[in-house]
Amino acid sequence: MELQVTPSVLSADAGRLSDEIARIPSADAIHLDVMDNHFVPNLTFGLATVEAVRRCTTKALDVHLMIDQPDRWAPAYAEAGAESVTFHIEAAEAPIRLARQLRAQGARSSVALKPSTAPAAITDFLSEFDSVLLMTVEPGFAGQPFLDLVLPKVMVLRNLIAAANLDIRVQVEGGVSLETIERCAEAGADTFVAGAAVFGADNPDAMVRALRVRATAAVDRLIAAAEGR
Ligand code: DX5
Repeated sequence: MELQVTPSVLSADAGRLSDEIARIPSADAIHLDVMDNHFVPNLTFGLATVEAVRRCTTKALDVHLMIDQPDRWAPAYAEAGAESVTFHIEAAEAPIRLARQLRAQGARSSVALKPSTAPAAITDFLSEFDSVLLMTVEPGFAGQPFLDLVLPKVMVLRNLIAAANLDIRVQVEGGVSLETIERCAEAGADTFVAGAAVFGADNPDAMVRALRVRATAAVDRLIAAAEGR
């Protein structure tokens, strides 16, 4: 599965999102962190902003709902044109029904786990999802330090997905940077959300490309080692 870098605009200039998105043409998708100050202790933006972003870019939109009541709201983000909608397993009333509804709307269904949520929360119905997002920080704020203790969970899910021969992306988010992305890729992640690392860089697009190169090199080393090269 090809590696993807999906920058979060949480660290971008919220008053100039269209311009900020134009600064990262190398991004594989635009990651939009919706927060409601209930599920997480922060308030960012909602449906109207995602609809506005939809009108200003042709890039795929990867919406991450850090909200209560995703069962009620997630379909509206798919309706707004998000290619992927991620909801938290900790917040969903009926995750299987919600995942199927998102797919029926033509969106990719994605589920997120907080750092302290075990893989067992979703392993019985992994096939309902196109992507699993493993938070490598406590959700709520950009620029937090990376939690290495989540990496074993990345490996567990990668192995479960491979064993079941499923086509599911493993996404990581929170503290992903040039310093941490290699170990994320080595653990089995293939999709990387980065906010502060990208929009804190002098050249955000160069950082997107550097992150992808760094992750790809880590995977290439793994493959070479497995092949005894
Ligand atoms: C956490 C936020 C951040 C953001 C990525 O709830 O959602 O993880 O997406 O920001 P960085 O890359 O700065 O951690």
